[in-house]
Amino acid sequence: MATLLQIDSSGLSDSSTTRKLSAHYADKWKEANPNGKIIQRNLSETNVPFATEALIFAMNTAPDKLTSSQKLLLSLPDELMKELLEAETYVIGAPMYNFSIPAILKAYIDAIVRPGLTFSYDGGKPKGLLKNKKVIVVTASGGDYSQAPMKNMDFVEPYLRTIFGFIGITDVTFVKAHGNDPQTKSATESAAKTAIDALFQRVTA
Ligand SMILES: Cc1cc2nc3c(=O)[nH]c(=O)nc-3n(C[C@H](O)[C@H](O)[C@H](O)COP(=O)(O)O)c2cc1C
Repeated sequence: MATLLQIDSSGLSDSSTTRKLSAHYADKWKEANPNGKIIQRNLSETNVPFATEALIFAMNTAPDKLTSSQKLLLSLPDELMKELLEAETYVIGAPMYNFSIPAILKAYIDAIVRPGLTFSYDGGKPKGLLKNKKVIVVTASGGDYSQAPMKNMDFVEPYLRTIFGFIGITDVTFVKAHGNDPQTKSATESAAKTAIDALFQRVTA
């Protein structure tokens, strides 16, 4: 079954631009995939564990050697992994926080970038293990980072492209909105929705 994983990481709820854009993407996706399944993962309501020593050790322990406390520690990261493997399309709401991604999204990435599951170092070279997946990242920022010199301060897009590439996903599309004032915010949000609509027109053309 076609499956979409919708991940949101804004600290805001209804007023969040990225949540509006990821929801718009999910609506369009549902129109295009009426029998498809959407998994919603709201990271602001998910206590993703940080990469503590205990979690790192657990993630690097063979499944048959895990203690019961390690299994407990891995239960949420394992659930996140299951969702990731089940879906083939991901829409990720990633607002810019201090030139990078929100800490909860980074904790999520630390939970799903796992040796033997999403990457390997077989033969001494890193190899991404996810195949036939695509990501649509919807981002929002106060400033406009589309041109130099601001572009050099955007660590959201280069970081996410790098980390998704590392786990095997190279089909990555960014849709962006920005604005500190309501007019710019609303105009760029509308343009972003139009850009999302165009993604579906291209797929079905
Ligand atoms: C903690 C925090 C840090 C932010 N850092 C930046 C930043 O570095 N650059 C920027 O242009 N906007 C920054 N912003 C503004 C947000 O990127 C902007 O409000 C965006 O719309 C947030 O997405 P959201 O509406 O989905 O929450 C920051 C906002 C917050 C709450």
